[in-house]
Amino acid sequence: ISVVQRLWRGHVSADMLSPRLQRAMKDYVSANKHQVSYRGRRRPSQSAKELLCEMKAQARLQMVDGTQQPFSSLGWASLVPSLPLEQLHKHPDQGSFKSCAVVTSAGAILRSGLGREIDAHDAVLRFNAAPTEGYERDVGNKTTIRIINSQILANPNHRFNTSSLYKDVVLVAWDPAPYTLDLHKWYASPDYNLFGPYMEHRRAHPDQPFYILHPRYVWRLWDVIQGNTQENIQPNPPSSGFIGILLMMTLCEQVHVYEYIPSMRQSDLCHYHERYYDAACTLGAYHPLLYEKSLIQRINTGPGSDLRRKGRVTLPGFSTVDC
Ligand code: C5P
Repeated sequence: ISVVQRLWRGHVSADMLSPRLQRAMKDYVSANKHQVSYRGRRRPSQSAKELLCEMKAQARLQMVDGTQQPFSSLGWASLVPSLPLEQLHKHPDQGSFKSCAVVTSAGAILRSGLGREIDAHDAVLRFNAAPTEGYERDVGNKTTIRIINSQILANPNHRFNTSSLYKDVVLVAWDPAPYTLDLHKWYASPDYNLFGPYMEHRRAHPDQPFYILHPRYVWRLWDVIQGNTQENIQPNPPSSGFIGILLMMTLCEQVHVYEYIPSMRQSDLCHYHERYYDAACTLGAYHPLLYEKSLIQRINTGPGSDLRRKGRVTLPGFSTVDC
C-alpha cells in the first residue's frame, strides 16, 4: 500500500519514503544544524486523548514580547502589538473563534472545489505566499491569519512590503533558532534576517497585528513530535503547517485542516500555485512532515471519507478538551 494510505491509517516510518528522501533525511540528521539534543521521554503509544492533552500543555502560545534580552534592550516591549494574539478576537462571553480552517498550500487542493466550504469558517489560516486570487473555487478567498517564515520577510522576491497578500491580515512570523534557545545567537544570526524587516514593518503599520513566534514555542512543538515517535525525526523545526494547526487549536473551538494529510487527489505538485513537483513538499526532507502528519491523524476525529474526498481533518480546539 502507498505512503498516503499508511498516513490515512496513522502508521508511518522513514522506510516508506523513496531512497532519495531517506537520504535527504539522513543528511539533515547528521548535519544537525540547530544543535538539537533531545533528552525528553518517548511514549509513542499514548492514546489520542493523552496526546491531545500533552499538546494542549506544550502548545501554550508564546511570542517574542520584548521581555527577554536582547529584545528588551532594543525596546521591543513597545514595538510588538500591545494586545496578545489570543485576545485580538475575543468576544466577552465566548472564546475566540468557533470554527476555523487551516488551508495548506499542497498541490492536491487543486480541483477540490472546497473554496465555499473553507470561506464559511469564522477564521481562515493560510501560509507564506499562497494566493487566493485565481484559485477561489478550490481554496476560498478569506484570510484571517497568515503564518510566514523568515524567507518571506528577507527575500525581496516576495515583495513583503508591497504585496497585498500581507495586508489586512494578522501576521505571525517565525525563524528557526538554536534548540538551546540562545536568543542572542538567534538575533545575531537568524536563518533569514527577519528582525530588521519586522521592526520596519511594525513602525510603518503599527495597527496591523504582527507577531514573531518565540523559538521556545516552535521547539516545544518539535519535542511533542519526537516524544510521540519511535524513530529519530529530523532535528529541524516542524513545518509551518504543523505550527499553524496547533496555533489554531489554541484560538478556535473546532479546526478543519485541508490537504495536510493528503486526499486521494495527492500528487507530487508541491504548491497549488506553482508548477514545481517534489514529493518532499508533502512527505518531508528538511521538516519532519511525515511524523507531524501521523500525529495529526492520530487526533483526527473526522471520518475517513473526509480524509479521502476532501483531505479534511477535524480537530477539537484546546478549550474544549478536558485534561
Ligand atoms: O511550502 P509551505 O511551507 O509554504 O506550505 C505551507 C504548509 O503546507 C507546509 O508547511 C506543510 O505543512 C503544508 N504542505 C503540505 N504538502 C505540500 C505543501 C505544503 O503538507 N505539498
